[in-house]
Amino acid sequence: MFETLVGQTEVKNRLGFYAKAHKAGSIIPPIMLNGAKGLGKTEFAKAFAKEIGKKLLEINCGTIRNAQQFFEQVFMPAIAGNEMIVLFDECHALPKDLVEVFLTAFNSEGAKSKQVSIGDGFATFDFEKQNFLFATTELHKIFDPLKDRMTVVDFETYNSVDLSSIIQKKIDFIEFDNDLIHQVAKTVRGNARSAIKRALEIKAFCEIKNKYRINARDWLEIKTLLGIKPYGLTNLEVQILGVLKSNGPSSLQMLSAVTGMSRSAIQLDAENNLLRSGFMEIDVKRKITNKGLSILKELS
Ligand SMILES: Nc1ncnc2c1ncn2[C@@H]1O[C@H](COP(=O)(O)OP(=O)(O)O)[C@@H](O)[C@H]1O
Ligand SMILES: [Mg+2]
Repeated sequence: MFETLVGQTEVKNRLGFYAKAHKAGSIIPPIMLNGAKGLGKTEFAKAFAKEIGKKLLEINCGTIRNAQQFFEQVFMPAIAGNEMIVLFDECHALPKDLVEVFLTAFNSEGAKSKQVSIGDGFATFDFEKQNFLFATTELHKIFDPLKDRMTVVDFETYNSVDLSSIIQKKIDFIEFDNDLIHQVAKTVRGNARSAIKRALEIKAFCEIKNKYRINARDWLEIKTLLGIKPYGLTNLEVQILGVLKSNGPSSLQMLSAVTGMSRSAIQLDAENNLLRSGFMEIDVKRKITNKGLSILKELS
């Protein structure tokens, strides 16, 4: 089960368990896939649907305006009465009134179905025919009572061994000298999507050069051509490290002023990565670490 997918042992175990339970006739609970972008939530939802043998309907919750629109345009025409798995993606963006309905619908405690009233009518959630998956990058934004009704499955960031094998599987007709694949993996940022992107860049390089083996010189050329930095750092992150080195400990406001990026852009993306990689620390102010200093040296 899930053998084409790399890593995420816990996710595989838990989804595997529910797939077996479903085949054995159990009603399975709504499952919330929780994890940062690119970790494989959609991919695992697809694999789960395949395992169970049902079609997957993906709905981006950002496109749902309100409960009425959802039931009229999606639930009644496409879901009611059908065998399928429904994935509510980005479910932290579910409209409030639909969350209210879901609180009733999923308060079913293993029942085979649940009716909820919608406007003048009602809708039936048939838990034998339909299974509901939810996915989010922002678990903290989910209304607690809704979260309580779900089984939360957490995704992990991938280590560099897993990233290497994701890359190698995507381009299995390309060989790498020595341990070059691990150097490639180190420039990928912990998620499967960037590993796949890197693999496709290498594939394009091989097509241009008409070769199917990558050596150290090729990798150097790829890095130069594509501006790939150590640890996959972005220009903004390098700039932030540079500011912290020359200005000393800085506030978020200072970083935002110097880089011209909004505070949230810095906080959500750059800072998280710098903190995770141990290049920066926050002790009231932002400070570059020794590891951060040595990376800057490597870059100059
Ligand atoms: N465990 C995995 N092994 C191999 N490839 C993966 C794995 N997880 C995700 N991918 C690939 O990475 C990319 C991003 O995955 P996706 O499911 O879209 O992430 P998410 O929905 O969490 O943002 C897809 O191309 C997918 O095929
Ligand atoms: Mg997704």
